[in-house]
Amino acid sequence: MKIVSLFSGAGGLDLGLIQSGNEIIWANDIDKDAAATYGKNIGGHIVCADIKDINLADIPQTDVIVGGFPCQGFSQANLLRTVEDERNQLYKFFLGAVREKQPRFFIAENVRGILSLGKGDAIKQIVANFESAGYVVTVTLVNMADYGVPQTRQRVFIIGQHKDLGESMIFDFPEKTNGKSGNPSPWISIKSVLDHYPDPDKPSDFLNHICSSYKVEYRNFTGHRITDPDKPSPTILARGNGKGGVCAIPHYNGKRRLTIRESATIQTFPEDFEFIGQMNSCYRQIGNAVPVRFAKLLGQELIRLEREVL
Ligand SMILES: C[S@@+](CC[C@H](N)C(=O)[O-])C[C@H]1O[C@@H](n2cnc3c(N)ncnc32)[C@H](O)[C@@H]1O
Repeated sequence: MKIVSLFSGAGGLDLGLIQSGNEIIWANDIDKDAAATYGKNIGGHIVCADIKDINLADIPQTDVIVGGFPCQGFSQANLLRTVEDERNQLYKFFLGAVREKQPRFFIAENVRGILSLGKGDAIKQIVANFESAGYVVTVTLVNMADYGVPQTRQRVFIIGQHKDLGESMIFDFPEKTNGKSGNPSPWISIKSVLDHYPDPDKPSDFLNHICSSYKVEYRNFTGHRITDPDKPSPTILARGNGKGGVCAIPHYNGKRRLTIRESATIQTFPEDFEFIGQMNSCYRQIGNAVPVRFAKLLGQELIRLEREVL
């Protein structure tokens, strides 16, 4: 299907959608480094600009609109979150694009905290807004480890289907491929995907294989816990080192933090995907991304619908 991508970042979501056979016809992000990463690895169709400065008429007609609208205002780690947080208002641009372009489907990703924001009122409002724009809407909380991603990252996916395609949802949410209990197959451990990387102090050809010097201290909060080598990684973060930078997860060897490359591998980016920018910017682009492997499963469902149903 033809897809317009808003808040595209480095392109984790877009890469998975492309890998499954879809085409991204237009993409946008405000961040210069993320747009440079996207341009180098995915394509020159990304427009680097504040979405508020984009005229809806300049966005092409499309089958699908996707977007991970910014989540700072929704994050559970942010105790100051409120329904009025102006960063939450960016979703309204996404809503406006859906209302104006009337795509067959839309896919919006967000953090788990969106479900409890305003004691659940925010998500109800968001669903009602999309319904009034002409869509059947489902909201699904996902643990990425259940889809073969070596990370217990929880994210919410809001899927919309144009009411012209029927009042009941024909988009089948991807079936889980992995489970904590081993069913259908076991969760993937962090060690099994990172053990082939040499220490970053040693010479190697791996791209972006450098790490933050932020000290590893176990203080029992996010980013400061022992990493169990035999379990999936905790969530790869996009912020949180206390100085406005990003808190990379400690390596399970306890001696250092994960490199940019290792963080990207946990987010299931391919090894030849190169991140552009200073270290913190690269970590942030990775922490912001939808794991490519999960995005590919979403894309496969769009392809199934296109080929077999529509
Ligand atoms: C959660 S990330 C999206 C990540 C992306 N879906 C991926 O899989 O890689 C949100 C993105 O929104 C971008 N953003 C924030 N404010 C924006 C604005 N006003 N206009 C355009 N992009 C914006 C950020 O730079 C960030 O890259």
